[in-house]
Amino acid sequence: MSQDTFYITTPIYYVNGEPHLGHAYTTVAADSVARWHRLRGRRVFFLTGTDEHGQKVYQSALARGLTPQQHCDELSVPFRELFDRLLCSYDDFIRTTEPRHTRVVRQILQALYDQGDIYKDAYEGWYSTAAERFWSEEELVDGNCPDTGLPVEWLAEENFYFRMAKYADRFRQWIVEHPDFIRPVARRNEVLGLLRKEVGDLCLTRPVSRLPWGIPIPWDANFVTYVWFDALINYISAPGYRSDDPTLAERFDALWPADYHLVGKDILTTHSLYWSTMLFAMGLEPASCLYAHGWWTADGRKMSKSFGNAIDPHLLVEAYGVDATRYFFLREITFGADGDFSHKGFLLRYNAELANDLGNLAHRTVSMTRKWLGGVVPELGELTDDDRALETLATDVVPRFDAAMGDLRFRDALGACMELAAAGNKYVDTQAPWTLNRQGDTARLATVMRLVLELCRIAGTLLTCVCPTKGPELLRLLGAELPDLRGEGLSRLARLDQLTTGAALELGKPLFPRLSELPAVVVEAQAAGAAKPTEEPPKPEKKPPEVVAKPPISFDDFTKLDLRTGHIIAAEAHPNADRLLVLTVDTGDAEPRTIVAGIANRFAPEDLVGRTVVVVCNLEPVKLRGVVSEGMMLAAGGKTVFDLVTVPGEPQPGVIVR
Ligand code: MSP
Repeated sequence: MSQDTFYITTPIYYVNGEPHLGHAYTTVAADSVARWHRLRGRRVFFLTGTDEHGQKVYQSALARGLTPQQHCDELSVPFRELFDRLLCSYDDFIRTTEPRHTRVVRQILQALYDQGDIYKDAYEGWYSTAAERFWSEEELVDGNCPDTGLPVEWLAEENFYFRMAKYADRFRQWIVEHPDFIRPVARRNEVLGLLRKEVGDLCLTRPVSRLPWGIPIPWDANFVTYVWFDALINYISAPGYRSDDPTLAERFDALWPADYHLVGKDILTTHSLYWSTMLFAMGLEPASCLYAHGWWTADGRKMSKSFGNAIDPHLLVEAYGVDATRYFFLREITFGADGDFSHKGFLLRYNAELANDLGNLAHRTVSMTRKWLGGVVPELGELTDDDRALETLATDVVPRFDAAMGDLRFRDALGACMELAAAGNKYVDTQAPWTLNRQGDTARLATVMRLVLELCRIAGTLLTCVCPTKGPELLRLLGAELPDLRGEGLSRLARLDQLTTGAALELGKPLFPRLSELPAVVVEAQAAGAAKPTEEPPKPEKKPPEVVAKPPISFDDFTKLDLRTGHIIAAEAHPNADRLLVLTVDTGDAEPRTIVAGIANRFAPEDLVGRTVVVVCNLEPVKLRGVVSEGMMLAAGGKTVFDLVTVPGEPQPGVIVR
C-alpha cells in the first residue's frame, strides 16, 4: 500500500446458489468507496470473485448432477452478471479454480511446510457424517451432533495442521497496537474476547476420501486444502503475489497491505485469526482494516437462501433502478449494523430523499430557470447573508462527505450530501424566486437560481460514486461535467461559482420520479411469494438421512414428558461455544429457565426473542460448555435443524402441549 494506491476487497462468494441482496450489498459498498477514491485520484484495485472449492460447493454440484468444475463455471456467471448490472467497477474478478490462484496456494503451502509451520497429526473425536465435521465432547448436545441432532461416531483421522497457535500472540499484539485494524469496535472486542481462550492449530486439509474437491496439497495427493485456507489467499494471489510476471509482482508490492477487506460479520474469525496468522507465517502484514458489516434481515431473520427470505437484487434494479438500489443499500443502515429490508422502507426513503429532496430540487430549479432566465446558467450577483450560509454549508459538507466515504460511514456521507438538497429546497422557499420574477428583480433571481444550481452540481458530483448514472446525468442537465477532484479539486468543488455561466440547461425527465405505490414488479413478486410458504424448508437431500426407528413406548411413558409452551424472553451467544445459544424462556414457572440450544448456525439471537416454542420441561438439567441447560426445545429438521416448533399468536407461556 502506498499513499496513491487504494486496494479494497469483498469476500469471494460461494457458488452454491444464485447471488442475493447480501452479496450485492458488500460489493456495492466496496464499489462506491473504490469509485470515490478513483475520483480523488488514487490508483484503485477493487477485487471481488467467487469461492469455488469446499464441501458446500461440492454438494451443490452433486445435487445438480454436474462435475464440480462445470457447476462452478456455470454458477460463477450470475455473480459477475449481477455485479455488472449493479455497475460495480471491479478491477479483477478472481475464481479460486483458476490456475493463477491454485498455483499460488500450492506455493504457499509448500513454503510453510518447508519452514516447519505445517505438520501431520491424527485427530480423534466425535464425527458427524451428516454435518461432515468433528465435534468435541462438550459441544455435543445430549450426546448427539449439535447441528443435526443425529448420532455421532468416534473417528480417528490424519490431517495436516497449520501452526496457528505459534502466531496467536503476535496477532493479539497486532490488534492492540492497531486500534483501527478490526472495525467496528464491537467486532474488535469480539475478536479480543476470542483470543482470551487458547488458540489451537488450524486443520488445513481434508482427506480426498472424504472430500475430493479442493486444491491438492503439493506433497501428498491424498489430501486437498481446506477451503478457507485456499479462499483467503485470493486477496494476494489476484494482485500478483509470487507472480512470475514482474509487472504483476510489482503491482502486488505497491498494493499490499490492502486498505480494506470488507466482510460480513459472519466471517470475522476466519478473516481475522486465520488470515492474519497465515500472513504472519508468510512474512506479510495484514490489511490495514478488516471491516465487518452487519446483516440484512427480512422479518427479523438473516436474509439467506436457506431461510427462503432472500431478496433478489435484480428485482430491486427492475423496480427502482440501479442508482436508487445502490443508494438505498448504503443510506438505509449504518455500515456495521444490521437492518431489516422492506419494500415499504425502500419506497419511503426513495420518495423522501431521492424524489422529493434532490430530484425535485433539480427539476424545479432547472424548470424555473428555463422559464424565467432563458434556460442557461445565470450569472452570479452580489451575495447576501443567506447566500453566504449556503456557501458555508457547502464548504462543510464536501470534506465531511470525503472523510465519511474514506471511513466507510456511507450513511453519514449520503446524509451530508442530502443536507445540500434539503438546504436548497428551504432556500428556494424562503427566497421565493416566483416573487422575484413577478417583481422583475432579474439580477437577484439569477443569483438565487445560480446558487441552487451550484448546490445541485455539488450533490450530483458527490453522488456519482454511489449513483454512477444519475450523478453524471444530473451534471449533464446542468451543462457541467464531472470535475477533477484530485488534490485541490475537492475544495474547488465546494465553491458556488463553478458552473459555466451561459451553459445550456436541460430539463430532462425527473431524475427520480416519485413512486405513489409499490412498483408492479414488486407487487407481482410478492404475490408469487405469498403463494409459496415464505420460509421454505431446505430441499430434501439426494440421499435422505436414514431414519433411526426407535422401539415403541407406552402412552404412560409418553405422558411422563412435561411438554409446555415457552416464551423466549432473551437470547444470546454462548460465551464458550459458537454453535450454541443461551435462551431465557418463560415456561410458566415462578422463574424463567435457561435453555442452551445448538442452533446458532441457524438462528441469530435476535431472531428468537418473542417466539413461543415447545419445551421439554422435565429433562434433567445438563451443563453444556459451562452453562446449565434446564430443558430442550422441540425442533424440526434432519441433517440440519431448519426450524423450531413454534406456537403462533399472542405468547401464552406454560400451556400444556400434548
Ligand atoms: N466464501 C466465503 C467467503 C470467503 S472470503 C475469502 C463466504 N461466502 S458467502 O457466499 O457465504 O458470502 C458471504 C458474504 O456475503 C458475507 O460475508 C457478506 O459479505 C455477504 N452476505 C451474505 N448474506 C448477507 C446478509 N444477509 N446481509 C449482508 N451481507 C450478507 O462466506
